[in-house]
Amino acid sequence: MAEVIIVPSAAAAGVLVADEIVKLVSARPDAVLGLATGSTPMPVYEALRSRLTGVDVSQVRGFALDEYVGIDPHHPESYRSVITKEVVEPLGLDPDRIQTPNGALETISHAGDDYERAIAAAGGIDLQILGIGTSGHIGFNEPGSSFASRTRVKTLIEQTREDNARFFDSVDDVPMHCITQGLGTILSARHLFLLAFGEGKARAVAGAVEGPISSSLPGSAIQLHEHVTVVIDEAAASQL
Ligand code: GLP
Repeated sequence: MAEVIIVPSAAAAGVLVADEIVKLVSARPDAVLGLATGSTPMPVYEALRSRLTGVDVSQVRGFALDEYVGIDPHHPESYRSVITKEVVEPLGLDPDRIQTPNGALETISHAGDDYERAIAAAGGIDLQILGIGTSGHIGFNEPGSSFASRTRVKTLIEQTREDNARFFDSVDDVPMHCITQGLGTILSARHLFLLAFGEGKARAVAGAVEGPISSSLPGSAIQLHEHVTVVIDEAAASQL
């Protein structure tokens, strides 16, 4: 059963998770972080800015959850760019130790396996930050994703492309495909932190935390993990 913590605000959630990360990195300087993008984890990265001052982060490693396929890595909305701008640079992490799945078309046939090997070589992910999509997706594992899945290419559903259109000029500019850690990859991390804020996430949160374990709501896979902390605001908790 996941531990559910209801916090007064997204900022409070950011502080809570940031404190856990500081504890982890202080105890284990080469900790491996699972990094999420989207708007949800931003308060965590913001809270880390002041809290990591004075902590040696030179050995910290990180793996992003997902990336768009076929997007220029320098595009401001590629997840590589977002992780660089929001995490690597402000926190002073070593960019060579932070990876995102490679969405380049030329190498896409083996990019998933390459990513899995890199995560395994790092010893696995210690602490995985997760947001959740309105469809219940985690990473980009849309409904129907296998619980055993590993990093691979997926097609984005229309709802997710519409949700993410706010980051692009129009919905037509949102890529059609992504490469995402699988649900199996996510479940292999040692501690999951699932964050969600706002009423729009209430249905997905309820399904993930206490709905039937089903691939029709991929976030429900967290119920199969023995160490999950769900950090949500009142609105996101409203259907629990
Ligand atoms: C995006 C990401 C997910 C994220 C989710 C929610 O599409 N691929 O990793 O958790 O959708 O996004 P947001 O946090 O912006 O609501």
